[in-house]
Amino acid sequence: MKNADLEKHVKGESLFVDDIPEPAGTLYAYVLDSPIAHGIIKSIDFGDIKSAEGFIDVLTWHDIEGENQVGGIIHDEVLLAEKEVHFIGEPIAVIVADSARNAKLIAKRISIEFEKLPVVLDPREAFSKKLLIKPPVIFQNGNVENAWKECSFIAEGTVESGGQEHLYLETQCALAVPKESDSIKIYSSTQGPTVVQRTAAKVLNLPMNKIEVDVLRLGGGFGGKEDQATHWAVLAALAAKKTKRPVKLVLSRLQDLRVTGKRHPYSSDYKIGLTDDGKILAFQVTYFQDAGACADLSPAILERTLFHVANSYHIPNILATGISCKTNIPPNTAFRGFGGPQAMFVMESAIYNASVISGIPVKLIQKNNLLDEGDEFHYGQIAENVNARKCWNYADEIYSFEKMESEVHKFNEDNKITKRGIAYMPVCFGISFTSTFLNQASALIHVYSDGSVGVSTAAIEMGQGVNAKIISIVSQTFSINSDKIRIESTNTTRIANTSATAASSGADLNGNAALIACKNILERLKKSAAEELSLNDYSSISIKEDWIYNKDIKTDLSWELLVNKSYMKRINLSSHAFYATPQIYFDRTINKGRPFAYHVYGTAATVVELDCILGRYQVESVSIVHDYGKSLHHNVDVGQVEGGLLQGIGWMTLEEIKYSDSGDLLSNSLSTYKIPDIYSAPREINIHFLKNSENPFGPLKSKAIGEPPLMYGIGTYFALLNAMRAFNPNVHYQISAPLTPEKVLLALYKK
Ligand code: MTE
Ligand code: HPA
Ligand code: MOS
Repeated sequence: MKNADLEKHVKGESLFVDDIPEPAGTLYAYVLDSPIAHGIIKSIDFGDIKSAEGFIDVLTWHDIEGENQVGGIIHDEVLLAEKEVHFIGEPIAVIVADSARNAKLIAKRISIEFEKLPVVLDPREAFSKKLLIKPPVIFQNGNVENAWKECSFIAEGTVESGGQEHLYLETQCALAVPKESDSIKIYSSTQGPTVVQRTAAKVLNLPMNKIEVDVLRLGGGFGGKEDQATHWAVLAALAAKKTKRPVKLVLSRLQDLRVTGKRHPYSSDYKIGLTDDGKILAFQVTYFQDAGACADLSPAILERTLFHVANSYHIPNILATGISCKTNIPPNTAFRGFGGPQAMFVMESAIYNASVISGIPVKLIQKNNLLDEGDEFHYGQIAENVNARKCWNYADEIYSFEKMESEVHKFNEDNKITKRGIAYMPVCFGISFTSTFLNQASALIHVYSDGSVGVSTAAIEMGQGVNAKIISIVSQTFSINSDKIRIESTNTTRIANTSATAASSGADLNGNAALIACKNILERLKKSAAEELSLNDYSSISIKEDWIYNKDIKTDLSWELLVNKSYMKRINLSSHAFYATPQIYFDRTINKGRPFAYHVYGTAATVVELDCILGRYQVESVSIVHDYGKSLHHNVDVGQVEGGLLQGIGWMTLEEIKYSDSGDLLSNSLSTYKIPDIYSAPREINIHFLKNSENPFGPLKSKAIGEPPLMYGIGTYFALLNAMRAFNPNVHYQISAPLTPEKVLLALYKK
C-alpha cells in the first residue's frame, strides 16, 4: 500500500490552504509587526492609507471584541500589541486590501514611534534578572548529595544547543470565510484545529459552535503549527468578522522565518558521577531554556526535557532543574522531540566528558547503564517491555560495532588529513502527551450504501503519513480494500475537542478511536449477515478481502451487497467512537506518576568522515535498529526514521539560528540558514526493525514513530567530535551545537 497522498503530491494535485479556490469577494491581509525587540508604542501614524489603492480596512487591538489573548498554557501573549512590544515580529496591526500586494504596500505607509527598552537575548542573563516564564521546576529521585561520595569519577560541564527553524514547505496561512448568523469557517494550516477554534471564539467573543475549523492537510508542521498557526487564523477571522468578507492571510517565507518561534536553544550545567566500573550513580543538571518573549508551549516543552534527563539510561540519583527564561525573541515553540532532544544532548555530552575523565570508553558507559525491565524512571514510572538493550544488542549483532570501529581505526591510521569518527546513540522516548488530558481522540466513520467508507478523525496529515496508517487500520479491521476508504478533512464540526496532532501520538490516539468505530459497525454488519444467512448467531461470520464468510466458507454476500442489504434493513452504518489512553496520570505536586503509555527505543551507530584541512565533513553511514512495534505501514515508518534522522543531523551540525544584539534574526533566509540537503544526508542509512516487538497500547500493536528518530542525529555530533580528536587529541570536547564546518575548523587548530 502506498502513502495515500503520494500520487497527488507528485502530480501537484494535493490541495493546501493557498490552493483552495477563493470565494467571491475575498480580501487579503498583511500583518504589520514590530521592528524593535522591546519598547513602548508611543504613537501610530496611519497617514493617508485610507486613500491608498485597494485599501479596505485596518485593524488594531481596539477592534478585538473579546479577549486580546492567545496564550494557551499561560495567558501572557496578546494577539495584537497594545502598549508594549516584546520581540521583533510581534503583530501590531492588520491591513486588509483587495490584493496581498496592496496590503503589503499599504503597511509600508504606516509609521510607528517607539520608546526603546533594554533587550535581553541570553537566557542566563534573563534568569539573573528574574525574567522567568514561571518558577523553576525540579524533578528528582534518590539523593545526589549522598551519591557523590560514592563516586570514583565526577565530571562537570556546560552544554549549549541551538535553536532550529521548522522550515515547513507551506508557510503559515489561513482563509476565514464569514457564514450566516455571525459564524465563521476557517481553513487553517494548523496541527491543532481546536486550539484555533477556541482561541478564535475567545478573541471574537463568539461561542465555539460559531467557529468551524477545517484542515485538509499541511505542507509540514514539525511542531511549528501546534500553537503558532493560531495567530494567523485568528487574525484572518477577526478581519473577516469586521469586513464581513472572506479574508486570506499567507505569510511569505521571509516573514515566516522572521516572526515565528523555533526550537528552544538551551544552555545547561551538569555534574555526573560514576563508579570505577562505569556505572552512573548520580546526575545533576540545570537547564536554562530560552523561551523567547511569551510562554507559548515552553512550560510543557521544559517538562518533557525533565522527563528525558537520563535518555535511555537508568540513573538512581537525579536532580534536574528546569528554568524557562524570558528573552526578547519570538516565542520559541514545539519542534519534533519537544524538549527531549535538548535533554538527551546534555546527557550524552556528560557521558562523553565522564569518559574523558575516567578513561572508560563512551560505548561502555552507555551500554552498562541502559535501562532494564523493572527499572524506575526518575519520575516514578516503572519501565515495562523495555527494548533498550534489545535494540543495542541487535544493532551490535547485525552491524558489528567492533568491525565498524576497527574500520574507522584503520582508516585513521592510513589517512593523515581525513579522519573518521564513530559514535553510538541509544534513544528512549516517552509516548503520550505529558499533559494527560490531551491523550484523547475521536473518530467518525460512515459506511455509505455503496460500500465505500468515509473516515473522520482529529488527526492532521502533515506529510507524516497518519492518513495512510488510519486507512491501514480501517482496511485491516473491515478486511476491505484500501481503495474503498477515504480520509476526510479534519473538521471541528465532525470531530470536536481535538488534541493537536503532536507528541507522535496522532496515529495511536486517532487510530485507536477509528479501530473502535470500525468494530462497532463490523459487529452490526456481522449480525446482519447472520440474518441474511438465517443463522442464529454471528460468531461464525467473518469478512475477508471484501467478501463474507461463514465458518470460513465463502457465502454469496460481497461487502457491497451486505452493506446495501443492511442499509435497506435500516441498520446504522455510522459510528462515532472515543479513545482515551488508559492507565496514565501525573502528579505535579511531586512530579511523579505514570505519564507515558509506553516508550519507544532504538540505537544508532554513526560514522562520519572529516576533511581536516577544510573542516568539511560527510556522514558516511547511520545504522539503526528501531523499535516500531508491529509497524502499521513499513514505508511510512522508514520515511519517518530517515526524515527525523536528517532533521536531527541538521540541528546538530548545520542549522544555526543567529540574532543580532538588537534581537534581529540574522539567519533570516535560506542563504544564511543552511538546512541539510541531499548532499548532507548520510551516504548510507541502514534501518532494521526490532523483531517481535508488539505494543499493547498501539493500534494493532504498533508504536508511535514521529519524533524519536530525530534524536539519532545526536550521534553525528559525537562521531564528528571523535573524528576531530583523531586528528588533534587536544581538541576540546565541550564545544557547542551546532557543530558547523566553521566551528570544526576553528576547533581543530585552536591553540
Ligand atoms: N513528518 C512530516 N513529513 N511532516 C511533519 O510535519 N511532524 C513531526 C513528525 N513527523 C512531521 C513529521 C512531529 S513534530 C510529530 S509530533 C509527528 O510527526 C506528528 O504526527 P504523528 O503523531 O502522526 O506521528
Ligand atoms: N508533546 C507535544 N505537544 C504537547 C505535549 C507533548 O508532550 N504536551 C502538550 N503539547
Ligand atoms: Mo510534534 S513537536 O509534538 O508537533
